Amino acid sequence: MSTTKRIATLVGSLRKASYSRRLATQLQLIAPAGLVLDIVEIGDLPFFNQDLDATPPAPWVAFRDAIANADGVLFITPEYNRSVPAVIKNAIDVGSRPYGKSVWNGKPGGIISIAPGALGAFGANHHLRQSLVFLNVPTLQQPEAYIGNAEKIFTEDGEFVPSTKEFLGNYLQTFQRWVGTNAAGS
Ligand SMILES: Cc1cc2nc3c(=O)[nH]c(=O)nc-3n(C[C@H](O)[C@H](O)[C@H](O)COP(=O)(O)O)c2cc1C
Repeated sequence: MSTTKRIATLVGSLRKASYSRRLATQLQLIAPAGLVLDIVEIGDLPFFNQDLDATPPAPWVAFRDAIANADGVLFITPEYNRSVPAVIKNAIDVGSRPYGKSVWNGKPGGIISIAPGALGAFGANHHLRQSLVFLNVPTLQQPEAYIGNAEKIFTEDGEFVPSTKEFLGNYLQTFQRWVGTNAAGS
């Protein structure tokens, strides 16, 4: 039986030059053996509307399946107005319904927030945690990952600078253990 853990990785920015997406793609490259980060796109999910759940839109169905089939979920989020971007909140809402069938339930999670400013999107990170408590996503608490000064964490080639690579490499190793010990249904 494979012990590889597949992690649905959600990126909270849709813009091409996004620091968050750059961080996510670099994380894919430094992930430890046995941890695979699959970016699950959330930009084309129709806004949640309970009326649509009688015949759910295909992107909702595909998204719910992707989360349900993942071993864990990792949120890479910038901060919009001291909270999470709407695309992240919409994805959370879509995955949480129909009532009683939330795909988040028991799924181990992690949050890495990132911003050009010094605070590292602390506000977004903690607003997101509020929803994840309600949705029963056991979310890694330590190390906390507030990545500030986003323009300084990448080299000219787009790779992580050494200190960031070391910090996030350690983060992923801890997250891998977290996913193992908090496996849904265990
Ligand atoms: C609508 C909007 C609101 C923002 N609010 C905040 C904020 O509250 N805190 C913060 O640190 N940066 C804020 N920013 C700046 C973002 O951190 C910055 O644009 C960042 O690069 C977005 O992430 P991305 O590079 O992944 O797209 C905001 C940007 C936008 C567009």
